[in-house]
Amino acid sequence: MSESQRAQLAGDAVTGDGTTSGITDDGTADVVILGAGPAGLVLGNLLLASGIDCVVLERADRAHVQTRARAGYLAANTVRILEEHGLAEGLRRGGVPHAVCEFRSGDGRFRLDYGSIGPAGAHTVYPQQELVTDLLTHYLDAGGRLEFETEAVAVLDADGTRPSVVVRTADGEGQGRNGRWRGRYVAGCDGRHGAARRSLPAGVVRHHRDHGVTWLGLLAEAPPSLDAVGYAVHRRGFAGHMARTSEVTRYYLQIERGGPADAWSEQRIWDELALRMRAADYGPLRRGPIVQRAVVDLESDVLEPLRRGSLFLVGDAASLLSPSAAKGANLAVLEAEILARALVDDLAHGNPEGLDRYSARCLEHIWRAQEFSHWMIQLLHSPPGPADGETLFHDALARSRLETLRTSRTHQQWFAEGYVGV
Ligand code: APR
Repeated sequence: MSESQRAQLAGDAVTGDGTTSGITDDGTADVVILGAGPAGLVLGNLLLASGIDCVVLERADRAHVQTRARAGYLAANTVRILEEHGLAEGLRRGGVPHAVCEFRSGDGRFRLDYGSIGPAGAHTVYPQQELVTDLLTHYLDAGGRLEFETEAVAVLDADGTRPSVVVRTADGEGQGRNGRWRGRYVAGCDGRHGAARRSLPAGVVRHHRDHGVTWLGLLAEAPPSLDAVGYAVHRRGFAGHMARTSEVTRYYLQIERGGPADAWSEQRIWDELALRMRAADYGPLRRGPIVQRAVVDLESDVLEPLRRGSLFLVGDAASLLSPSAAKGANLAVLEAEILARALVDDLAHGNPEGLDRYSARCLEHIWRAQEFSHWMIQLLHSPPGPADGETLFHDALARSRLETLRTSRTHQQWFAEGYVGV
């Protein structure tokens, strides 16, 4: 995208020499962070603790950020990062260790105690909105600058040494106002539809895969039905069970693509979950009201490189992982730590080496996580549509994979390392 196109996107007047007018300067910071999700808030906290001047710009309001229910399985490495930086108080109190998954299929069921098999350890279950609330509170209490209801529209001059971020802020009457934040660096932690991605030039490569599979993601006000993550492989489609708290459980149901989220009645959802999870054989599901539902088309992508001049991509902005292996938030935290160290080295010690290596280092982790998630997708899902030769071949392979996982210690160790490792 050209400079003038980006400025137009921002709703500016563009002058003859390509500069922008009609926007006011709101402020400066050495690092301007876009987005207050796990990536942006870990980065903000780490920079603040090292005395680096930064600001976080967030499109939503505080209540929205603190109540958005998303992932909840924190890898041991994520907990280590949070603990090392004094950000783990809440999760130490409220997090629940989790180390077992249970696979169910037409061939029976088996449990895998991945936490004690692999070198990567167990998960800690801690709802993401609580983690985000902790990170936000810690950052603000430490004096961090954060602007809510401030949407980044475009990043300008990313190739120069003085990039700026054009923002739109709400004025309370739905009108909005254009402003601009200037920085030395910009960290794009604003997700897959954010301004950081939109501001990249055409040359940046986006590796993309649509897995052709759709999930109905559900949050039920119901206690967990089993003391493990449940993965049910069924010819009618995948069903998943993930505990959140003692009163709330997340379920997933593979559905036909294109159907609206409200096409399924609660009764039908519970009946289908029970059928695919083989509740008649392994115990009933504990039912309760469905309080949230969303349709998710399983997609993955990776942007390459993750740096454009002064602009760095972090978390979902860098790479989208399908939710099958619950790795998105863990990678986001890891990348934020890598970028924080590199920015401190550069801004406080004049050493740019870490920034130069940021993209390559993160891409190594991202592709490993992508590979594992892709394997999980192949394992868990039946291709949609009628059972033709290809579908039957796929299903037979998946059965064989499950059987190998059930019987081979080597495979179990590989699974345990890939499942929790980042
Ligand atoms: N300007 C400012 N803020 C923005 C903009 C924008 N243009 N666009 C999005 N945001 C904000 C969102 O409102 C959100 O708070 O950026 C934040 C992005 O947060 P996440 O989507 O949680 O992304 P990230 O921090 O990368 O976390 C990654 O957490 O739950 C998992 O699956 C999730 O993989 C994801 C992971």
